[in-house]
Amino acid sequence: MTNDDWSALVDTTDEWITTRTGIKERRFAADDQSTLDLSEQAALRAMGDAGLSADDIDEIILATDTPELYTPDTASLLQDRLGCRTIPTYDLGGSGCAGWIQAIDVARSRIAFEPKNILVVGVELISRLISWEDRATCVLFGDGAGAIVMGPGTGKATLVDVISGTDGSKADILTLQTGGTRHPFTVESAAAGDHQRLDMKGSEVFREAVRRMSSVTLELLERIDRPLGEVALLIPHQANKRIIDAIGHKLGLSEDKVFVNVDRYGNTGSATVPLGLWEAYGESRIQPGDLVVLTAFGAGFHWASAAMQF
Ligand SMILES: CC(C)(COP(=O)(O)OP(=O)(O)OC[C@H]1O[C@@H](n2cnc3c(N)ncnc32)[C@H](O)[C@@H]1OP(=O)(O)O)[C@@H](O)C(=O)NCCC(=O)NCCS
Repeated sequence: MTNDDWSALVDTTDEWITTRTGIKERRFAADDQSTLDLSEQAALRAMGDAGLSADDIDEIILATDTPELYTPDTASLLQDRLGCRTIPTYDLGGSGCAGWIQAIDVARSRIAFEPKNILVVGVELISRLISWEDRATCVLFGDGAGAIVMGPGTGKATLVDVISGTDGSKADILTLQTGGTRHPFTVESAAAGDHQRLDMKGSEVFREAVRRMSSVTLELLERIDRPLGEVALLIPHQANKRIIDAIGHKLGLSEDKVFVNVDRYGNTGSATVPLGLWEAYGESRIQPGDLVVLTAFGAGFHWASAAMQF
């Protein structure tokens, strides 16, 4: 769906969206597709790339704010869809766009405790969550899914370290309140469209995103004792090209070292980082020996950074 497609529906222009966000188009799932369908596609590709079958998966963690159902978790449905054994599964929900890096942080500690293969999925069907009439938010998002399989030993890359953080005092800068126990879903709220009212203080989110993603990346590099100059590629959460540029500028990284695909997908929430990783890898922008840093921020307010040595 292009910016011009949106301008036919709400009071916006390609020029406004492009200059404010860098987004030119985004993908929306078909009406008959759901979170589970996208998760399955990403999971199958990750398992295929790893040379593993459903029997080899020992656990599933799925990060999403747009689950298949209210209950149970999408991960249990994915276990069945993939034909896995009766392995434990769980969703990591509500962490917004930082959810997938938080999930790989959880996965690595599970693997350190007991060697196993964990399928880690980041998936979002934000098109079902947002109001298609609110121009301030609808143009920013897209649907997508990405996945990796993490396990013990050496695969294509080693997860060197991850740092995650949260500042709950800033929870109010990005919320969707209706449907929880504080603001239950009612006929009146549904009629008013409250269940799709994403409250976002855009400029505060922008500021916090740049501040937190830059600082957690520097903190991580210091902890693993690797200089910024050794980073071959930074894959930041893809919310807005201006946010990405500001991080690159703050860190002093040249443009070729910062991955961007927000122009084609928009913000796909917890899927942006695994999608970026998959594309960068597929386009040979990641070579053996490369140090790749992933970073994200999201509603909560959460942030995280992960270092991968290929
Ligand atoms: C949302 C965002 C793009 C807005 O950009 P901005 O530079 O702060 O916007 P500005 O303040 O210049 O413009 C706001 C104006 O544009 C208008 N506007 C909002 N959406 C618009 C749209 N799609 N088309 C045209 N005008 C729009 C607003 O109504 C407002 O008008 P007003 O000043 O008359 O009230 C920017 O704040 C942002 O990207 N924030 C981070 C959002 C994010 O990443 N969210 C996901 C977190 S995971």
